[in-house]
Amino acid sequence: MLKLGILISGRGSNMLVIIEKIERGNIPAEIACVISDKEDAKGLVKAREHNICAFFLDPRGLSRKDYDKLIVYELKKRDVELVLLAGFMRIISPYFVDEYKNRIMNIHPSLLPAFPGLHGQRQALEYGVKITGATVHFVDYGCDTGPIILQKPVPVLDDDTEETLSERILKEEHKIYPLAVKLYAEGRLEVIGKRVKIL
Ligand code: GRF
Repeated sequence: MLKLGILISGRGSNMLVIIEKIERGNIPAEIACVISDKEDAKGLVKAREHNICAFFLDPRGLSRKDYDKLIVYELKKRDVELVLLAGFMRIISPYFVDEYKNRIMNIHPSLLPAFPGLHGQRQALEYGVKITGATVHFVDYGCDTGPIILQKPVPVLDDDTEETLSERILKEEHKIYPLAVKLYAEGRLEVIGKRVKIL
């Protein structure tokens, strides 16, 4: 069974839908651990309610690489094979990317490559696009630049606020993130350069 490690910084709603799909037998995987860089992340509590090992790793005083070494140590100790960034608000180091080449996924609230980085929903509103969406991708050395696995468009409505748009995008995130993990767990994702083929 595929072993997952999930990294969070906050409420962990994407993490939770993945936990629930695994519990229902929809994804052939198990969660080895949930790690947060924020001590008060609500997602830690939610993961523990599902009897998942979930803990805080303190980044304070550590360089990016040293912190990532700590995370990678914890992941490897538990034989984690696929890492899921689920609202993890840190950029990960090239060291981490190399240790888990094409085995780290991220969910982003825009149709990449549009609006990478923070506040993808706000960027879409400010730009005035009519369609935005959600993207699941593998993580490479850049910020939100890795091979795209799945995308889902979401219309921007005239009366949208950052909140209403985020809510609508989140619904799609909750569909495509578990699906991408399921496809990976079933061995159905093939990465060829920048392109991801679904088998
Ligand atoms: C989501 O919007 C995701 O796209 C972004 O951070 C947010 C995390 O939400 N990377 P949650 O913690 O999964 O509820």
